[in-house]
Amino acid sequence: MNYKEALHHPIFKIISQSAKELQLDSYVIGGFVRDFILKRGTAKDIDVVAIGDGIKLAKQVAKNLPNKPKVQVFKTYGTAMLRYDDIEVEFVGARKESYTEDSRNPAVENGTLADDQNRRDFTINALALNLSTENFGDLLDPFNGAQDLDDKIIRTPLNPDITYSDDPLRMLRAIRFATQLNFTIETKSLKAITKNSDRIKIITNERIVTEINKILESKVPSIGFLLLEQTGLLKHILPELTALKGIDEIEGQRHKDNFYHTLEVVDNIAENTDNVWLRWAALLHDIGKAPTKRFSKKVGWTFHAHEFEGSKMVYHLFKRLKMPLNDKMKFVQKMVFMSSRPIVLAQDIVTDSAVRRLVFDAGEYVEDLMTLCEADITTKNPKKFNKYHNNFKIVREKIIEVEARDHVRNFQPPISGEEIIAAFNLKPSREIGIIKEAIKEAILEGVIPNEYEAAHAFMLEKGRKLGLTVGG
Ligand code: CTP
Repeated sequence: MNYKEALHHPIFKIISQSAKELQLDSYVIGGFVRDFILKRGTAKDIDVVAIGDGIKLAKQVAKNLPNKPKVQVFKTYGTAMLRYDDIEVEFVGARKESYTEDSRNPAVENGTLADDQNRRDFTINALALNLSTENFGDLLDPFNGAQDLDDKIIRTPLNPDITYSDDPLRMLRAIRFATQLNFTIETKSLKAITKNSDRIKIITNERIVTEINKILESKVPSIGFLLLEQTGLLKHILPELTALKGIDEIEGQRHKDNFYHTLEVVDNIAENTDNVWLRWAALLHDIGKAPTKRFSKKVGWTFHAHEFEGSKMVYHLFKRLKMPLNDKMKFVQKMVFMSSRPIVLAQDIVTDSAVRRLVFDAGEYVEDLMTLCEADITTKNPKKFNKYHNNFKIVREKIIEVEARDHVRNFQPPISGEEIIAAFNLKPSREIGIIKEAIKEAILEGVIPNEYEAAHAFMLEKGRKLGLTVGG
């Protein structure tokens, strides 16, 4: 492989020249080199290691760049960052690190390139390209990271016990890379992650969520969640999911394992949407099943109102993980809350009014809800599988039909409260609400179309039935 190709952007020559002026060596390291070898497209984040003062090198590079960009210095980390075109370059001096038990922030001292490569998380992330003018583009790969990329293996440069215990975030990174790249984590590493799994508690929720999101955004997210479960990390991060594990049997009646079912749903939905919040909804759609699980002799296993319970749990989960409690959270809640609604439709004859109600309740998210529910079909019975999918096709067609005719997606009552008051010369009273609700019901049931004239006539009729007279 010609590694010089990775360095075709003019910025690398400028870094090289600047390092020469300061009489120090510098290297591109980490994700940029990894992604070049993997042909994952050219990364826009570049990490540069200087054997010496990284901040000084950043400033020298900025001076030599035509647009003289601002250098952002992070003193506590000894790093500096600048932007050029759409590229972000981070500079750091090569370092040796030593960690303590209770923190992932190490004591740092200056080191060689080898020291710096040693402290990296994975062999595939420790690859470096030389930027010196003499050896420009030479690969420095002391741990055979390039071979590991070829073999699709995640391995740590040092003893994995030390690497993960030093910085427990790396346990999640290992699983995230395994999921994104479809790589295998070597057994020694997997054992070390399992052994150190409870050290994940020193990692901030924000960082954990970043990794979970990257797992969820992958092509086959279940790879990551299975590894998280298998290593014992999941119970620390998302205990709501581990609670779904297992199959109970009483009097010969069993329910499905809702953990593995959930992972199937997540993989299914990943084929149909890139919306990470919809993927979150798939991940959490059944979490209410653990606390609502009951057995009765008559009906067997039930999960009564698990959708409602689940939607409440979504709030607590987001709060605990310090995820934003905004409209995204509300969207996930709504999806979880409504997650069984279309299923009922899929099992039955699909009526217009049921579809109209679905569109009314789901509003602008009705397509997302359908995508979720289609992903939820994990039955291994081919007859049922086809029947449900066919019914959902009918539901989707009906949604378009009903929507074109009745416009109930963003329902606005065609008759206002004021109009009802005026028509019967009412004082504020219960009747107003009753009539409004009756009009809405009549529209949803298909008794009248969602139009002013019809609603007006219906209002007069309803008022009369309630003993009201037109004009009061
Ligand atoms: N690194 C590490 N331990 C960490 C985080 C990062 O050793 N906990 C090192 C790795 O060598 C990594 C480099 O720092 O390649 C840059 O980290 P980062 O930008 O977070 O990740 P990338 O590897 O670039 O990958 P991605 O952009 O996908 O996160």
